Amino acid sequence: MQIVLGITGGVAAYKAAELARQLTNQGHRVRCILTEAGARFITPLALSSLTGEPCLGANPDMGEWRANPSVEHIELARWADLVVVAPATANSIGKTANGLAPDLLSTVLLATRAPVLWAPAMNTGMWEHPAVQANLARLRSFGHGVVEPGEGVLACGEEGAGKLADVGAILEAIQMYGTPNLAVLQGRQILVTAGPTREDLDPVRTLSNRSTGAMGLALARAFRDVGARVHLVLGGDLPAPWGVETMRVRSAQDMLAACEARWADCDGLVAAAAVADQRPEHLAAEKVKKTDGPESLVLVRTPDVLATLASKRRPDQWAMGFAAESEKHLDHAKAKLKSKGLDAILVNDIQSGRAFGTQANTLIPITPQGVLPALGPLPKERLAQAVVQWWAHRLDVSDRAQQPGF
Ligand SMILES: Cc1cc2nc3c(=O)[nH]c(=O)nc-3n(C[C@H](O)[C@H](O)[C@H](O)COP(=O)(O)O)c2cc1C
Repeated sequence: MQIVLGITGGVAAYKAAELARQLTNQGHRVRCILTEAGARFITPLALSSLTGEPCLGANPDMGEWRANPSVEHIELARWADLVVVAPATANSIGKTANGLAPDLLSTVLLATRAPVLWAPAMNTGMWEHPAVQANLARLRSFGHGVVEPGEGVLACGEEGAGKLADVGAILEAIQMYGTPNLAVLQGRQILVTAGPTREDLDPVRTLSNRSTGAMGLALARAFRDVGARVHLVLGGDLPAPWGVETMRVRSAQDMLAACEARWADCDGLVAAAAVADQRPEHLAAEKVKKTDGPESLVLVRTPDVLATLASKRRPDQWAMGFAAESEKHLDHAKAKLKSKGLDAILVNDIQSGRAFGTQANTLIPITPQGVLPALGPLPKERLAQAVVQWWAHRLDVSDRAQQPGF
């Protein structure tokens, strides 16, 4: 890709040098633009030496207002396949969110038709300020991506949110914008779980959840469409897709048994099923009669399908989970990613009313590197394709990273 990398005036600007170096090593062409404040933290010489391309910016030597037969900001805006701002100050976010263009970087940001990705970094107070959050929401509404900052000790000495995301997470987010090499998924065996599980109380009653399985089925189809061999373990009532080997299951225990039978033969796991966490302690052989007094139901835990499979995987197998949370969704999902040892988790914010039984949905991917820009809102079929494309990129990059000389 041809990437314009905007570097604005924060202490984390020094990390942009590593980002520029790694992008260049990965075969991208990178042209840096420094803001005037950015140039106080890092030199254009460092950036142009690492990228082999001129570094542009506010300093007259860097040519912002240099007499030029081609109009520089428009040329750059057209040249870019992607514009990344890392680190992005509150000031730079505010300018673009409000259509202001007082310097080269902000002008390119308004002029470009390429996708734009922001990696904010700032003091926690600034990050949590409603004005900054409103500006970010505005950028997201333009279709711009945001790599969420992490938490930690900041340069100002405070501890909290606002630390520039790891370079690895920014690189992963950038990969999401390239043309995917879908061939990496061809012939791969992928175990997909989808739908709700059902835990019976008696011959007529059951405990379940509101998942339909539509997202998991869309994922099964999307992996099938790029040539993967999909083994689908399906709960619920939706029809199985063609071209996919499907095993129908009812309870969490059935789902685990079906998955364990296939897991050793698979390259990866996409665990999209909404597995019931509890089941009634006793399954009554006959329909339980109603009584007049208060009634209670004793529940016990079901097996954790995802954690069990993830714990049994070989180093060459990958595991992707899903999290549907109604509050603190990113924190809960990060904890789930870590405790279950997953390669990625895709977070559904069910409080926003999108997820179960709806057509359009948004998923936020989290990997051990960090929180990546949201996929969507998109109809579930398109969203599933976006997940597959993102994952193909990730597999491709990690395959290439293992080759000598990468
Ligand atoms: C030492 C120092 C560190 C700064 N760090 C940050 C930062 O991390 N994030 C931020 O938003 N602003 C930071 N600022 C403030 C910005 O540099 C200031 O808002 C500037 O106008 C940003 O200009 P730019 O967005 O054009 O680069 C810092 C300022 C100083 C003096």
